[in-house]
Amino acid sequence: MCSQETYHPLTFAPKVDRLVQADRVDGSMYYDPDLFEAELERIFYKTWVWVAHESEVRNAGDFKTTRIGRQPLIVVRDKTGTIRVLENRCRHRGATVCEKQKGNATGFTCPYHSWSYGLDGKLRAFPYPDGYEDILDKQELPLRSLRVESYAGMVFASFNQDVEPLTDFLGEAKHWIDLFMKQGAGYPIKTQGEHKFRFQGNWKIQLENTTDGYHFPIVHKSWMSSVDEETSEMLSFMTDEKAVTHALGNGHSVMVMVPEHVDLDQDDGSEPLQERFSHIVEALSKDYPPEQVRRIVRSLHGAGFNLNLFPNVAMSMAFFRVLHPVSATETEIRHIALGMDGGPEIANRERLRIHEHFQGPFGFGSPDDAEAWERVQRGSLAGKDVPILVNRGLNREVEAPNGDKVSHATDEGGMREAYRMWKRMMSDE
Ligand code: FES
Ligand code: FE
Repeated sequence: MCSQETYHPLTFAPKVDRLVQADRVDGSMYYDPDLFEAELERIFYKTWVWVAHESEVRNAGDFKTTRIGRQPLIVVRDKTGTIRVLENRCRHRGATVCEKQKGNATGFTCPYHSWSYGLDGKLRAFPYPDGYEDILDKQELPLRSLRVESYAGMVFASFNQDVEPLTDFLGEAKHWIDLFMKQGAGYPIKTQGEHKFRFQGNWKIQLENTTDGYHFPIVHKSWMSSVDEETSEMLSFMTDEKAVTHALGNGHSVMVMVPEHVDLDQDDGSEPLQERFSHIVEALSKDYPPEQVRRIVRSLHGAGFNLNLFPNVAMSMAFFRVLHPVSATETEIRHIALGMDGGPEIANRERLRIHEHFQGPFGFGSPDDAEAWERVQRGSLAGKDVPILVNRGLNREVEAPNGDKVSHATDEGGMREAYRMWKRMMSDE
C-alpha cells in the first residue's frame, strides 16, 4: 500500500499534526511506508531503544546480536566489563561480522576477508597487510559504537550521540522499573530464554496493546477459562477502582492489573497463597524460612502491572516483550522469560510454565492477541477517512500530584501518551 503523500521536511509537521489528535489517530499510521521510513529516522535512530538485559551478557565476551530498526547490532561485554553496542558491519566492505544469536567470543572476525575486531570493536588485524601500507590506519576503522546506558539492569542504546541522559528519558518510569525488579523476591532478575514471532501488522498496534486493559477479558477469554478460579479472579480488574493506568510522560505508561502486587515487598500477610502453588510451598519449605517461601510464591506471577517503555519494550508480569519494526505492515516480537538469579530452580521452572501458558507459541494468550492485531491491520484498510479511536476514559482522566495522567486500567490513556510522544518526535525537525 503506497501513500499518496510524501514527507518533505517543510510540510511534515502539519501532516503529523493531522494524523494524531488528542482522541484519535489516522488509520494510515498502520500502513503508510513513507511514514514508516520517517519513524525509523525520527524515533528508532534518535532516542533510547532497549537492547538487552545485563544478565544476557553476564561475563566478558558474552554477546547477543540484535537490531534497531534495520541496523544489525552486537551487544557485548568487553574485557573491562563494559557493555558495548557495536554496529554489526565490517569496516572493509560491510559484511556482518557475527551472525550467531548469542554466545561467548574473544573477538569478531569477518568471514569475507578476515578483518578481525576486538570485543571493544577495535580493528585488530587483517591478512596480507602490504596492500594497505601507508593508506590505512587501524585506529580509524573500529566497529562503530552506539551510546549505551543502563538502568536497573536494562540496557538501552542510541545512535544519537547527543541523546538526553537515559535517566531523564525514563523519568517517572524509573520508579515502576524498580518495582518491577522486586519480583526477584530478593534475588536479582535474570532472563530465562526467549522466543520470537512475527505478525502481519504495524508496530504501533502492538505498542498500544500493552496497556490496553479493555481487551483483556474479551481476547483472553480462552486463557481465563484455562486457569483456576483464583488466578482468573486475580486478573479480573475490569471494575476494580484501584486498577489504573498512569501516563508517565515521554510515551511511557503503566497499567496496574493486580494492585496488591504492585509493590511485592508490601505484604501484610492477609493474602492467601494460591492453591495451585501448594507443591512449590511444600518443596521450598524444606530449605527456606516461611517468610521467604511466601515472598517467592507471591512473586511467581511477576509484578502486578504492565509497563510500556516507548518505543520498543514492555515489562509485563514476568517477561519482557521487545518489538522490532520490520516494515509498515510487519513486526517481530521477542518474548523474554524472567526468573530469579540464584533463586530456587523449582520456582524458576514454574515461572517458565506460567510464561508458556500465556505467552508461548501454543499459549492461551499471545496467539489470540496476534490474531486481534492482524485484524486491526486488515480492517484499517477499509474506510480511509475513518479514524482509530483512543478516547476511552477521557471523561475520567485526572492529573496526579506528580503530573501523571491517571485513568482506569481499561482506558486508553497509555495509547494517548505513546501517540503524544510519537507526534513530538515525528514533528521534531
Ligand atoms: Fe569484512 Fe572484507 S567485508 S573483511
Ligand atoms: Fe493481550
